[in-house]
Amino acid sequence: MKKVLTAAALGLAITVSGAMAADGGALFKSKGCAACHQASVDTVGPSLKKIAQAYKGKADQLVKFLKGQEKPIVDPAKFGIMKPQLNTTKAMSDDELKAMADFILKH
Ligand code: HEC
Repeated sequence: MKKVLTAAALGLAITVSGAMAADGGALFKSKGCAACHQASVDTVGPSLKKIAQAYKGKADQLVKFLKGQEKPIVDPAKFGIMKPQLNTTKAMSDDELKAMADFILKH
């Protein structure tokens, strides 16, 4: 019994520390963004490369877009497809959004 509890506590500790160091790439995948955004080819959504070009030097604006506070600048005509995804990103912390923006801008 004691062994089981220790293992459970250890598992918890790993999960918590994993969440603290926000990994933008892992978040991008776990939040389902990769379903529509590939690294360098446009699919349902624009490629990360294209987004990174549009937001070059504008990480703050990118975070604001993901918070629903800025208008789309990459492909506004298709914003209807992206808009519902903002419900996911609006629920994320500033640290997580910043990590994800940095990940996108590295493309
Ligand atoms: C169902 C498909 C789909 C999913 C899932 C999706 N996107 Fe998008 N995304 C789009 C489309 C289509 C566009 C182009 C419209 C636009 O520019 O807003 C877009 C545009 C964007 C843009 C550019 C915004 C701009 O200024 O025009 C960013 C940044 C972005 N997505 C991030 C994300 C993130 C982060 C996630 C995961 C939480 C995500 N997307 C999930 C389809 C999707």
